[in-house]
Amino acid sequence: MSAVKLDMDRIIDDRRTRIIVCCGSGGVGKTTAAAAIGLRAAERGRQACVLTVDPARRLAQSMGLTSLDNTPRPVDGVDTSGGGSLHAMMLDMKRTFDEIVEAHADPDRAAQILANPFYQSLSSSFAGTQEYMAMEKLGQLRHADEWDLIVVDTPPSRSALDFLDAPERLGRFLDGRLIRLLTVPARAGMSYMKVLNAGFSMMTSVLTKILGAQVLKDAQTFVSAFDTMFGGFRERAEWTYRLLQAPGTAFLVVAAPEPDALREASYFVERLDAERMPLAGLILNRVHVSPAARLSAARSLAAAETLDMAATETPDPHDGPAGSGPRYDLAAAVLRMHAERMNLGKRERRLAEHFTSAHPAIPVAEVVAQPEDVHDLDGLRVIGTILSQQSP
Ligand SMILES: Nc1ncnc2c1ncn2[C@@H]1O[C@H](COP(=O)(O)OP(=O)(O)OP(=O)(O)O)[C@@H](O)[C@H]1O
Ligand SMILES: [Mg+2]
Repeated sequence: MSAVKLDMDRIIDDRRTRIIVCCGSGGVGKTTAAAAIGLRAAERGRQACVLTVDPARRLAQSMGLTSLDNTPRPVDGVDTSGGGSLHAMMLDMKRTFDEIVEAHADPDRAAQILANPFYQSLSSSFAGTQEYMAMEKLGQLRHADEWDLIVVDTPPSRSALDFLDAPERLGRFLDGRLIRLLTVPARAGMSYMKVLNAGFSMMTSVLTKILGAQVLKDAQTFVSAFDTMFGGFRERAEWTYRLLQAPGTAFLVVAAPEPDALREASYFVERLDAERMPLAGLILNRVHVSPAARLSAARSLAAAETLDMAATETPDPHDGPAGSGPRYDLAAAVLRMHAERMNLGKRERRLAEHFTSAHPAIPVAEVVAQPEDVHDLDGLRVIGTILSQQSP
């Protein structure tokens, strides 16, 4: 079964497309795809902004992403003759979290929160924080309305689903029982406290024993300071969530033609569907094709064996005339490599077809594996062109 081809330029050129999200499991090419799409969009006249997460160092450098100031900066070397522009930024998770605190609490309280050890560990290591902060930043960028297209890269989650789960998880964390317990003194008035007092002080003394007095105090101060921002977090997460569901959003699931990545891609596709998020297509990245596809793996291997036999029959392989021993070896090795590549290509094709038959309506774009990593604008342009020129 042949898949529907993804029409990338139609998505890019459609002014109603305001957000493109590249998601998928780790290492499949999300950052590369996001940067390539942003660049192509800019060179086709859009005011594009790419939000990257952890780009490889050389790619970051070539896009001018050297300062970690958490705001989009213009990218040099982009052809803006079509009236477009490209900005890019690299997500600084902790900085994003700090900015939220600074924007939503008065200066004293903000300083108190930022200095709190619980805040410091939550903001830099809570599972899901990076995913959450990527959503938060996307919300901010969209809200600023300075770009007409935002291309979002997503964090290298172990599970591709973390990205969608993050706001809810953070909400759950903040609503959690321990947290609620710890906030009792801050929330309840003194009279309520008196009623609760007996039980509460017992609980407090238990917690003090477990956590230590200073830790408990830190946790309480953190949570009560944070409490005022509860609603804000929730509201913004919901706003961003609705933004992702809006028709101006296009999700692209990126996968490598490998069993794990495609399994995860299938799962993601189903999840996006369940969440009513608009899926635009699948990018099958790093596929292997052979330029000499007419020579099959089997014939290639048979030829290699014939050459092996010829080589052993050559009396003196080291000094032999042209066409003897060493040359036979080399030719046989090349034929074997070709056979391996053909087999790899075949395996990848089978995996892709498996995906396509399970999801026949999802448009697919295939990107061939490049001979080297994609680390500069030229490399990104090549990927952008391949993405957009999917022959039917
Ligand atoms: N089509 C391709 N051909 C060759 N190399 C590629 C291709 N696509 C991506 N790469 C390279 O593969 C590596 C991983 O790509 P990338 O960083 O885009 O993946 P990712 O999904 O963002 O990874 P992570 O989950 O770690 O964030 C990079 O070095 C990139 O240059
Ligand atoms: Mg990445």
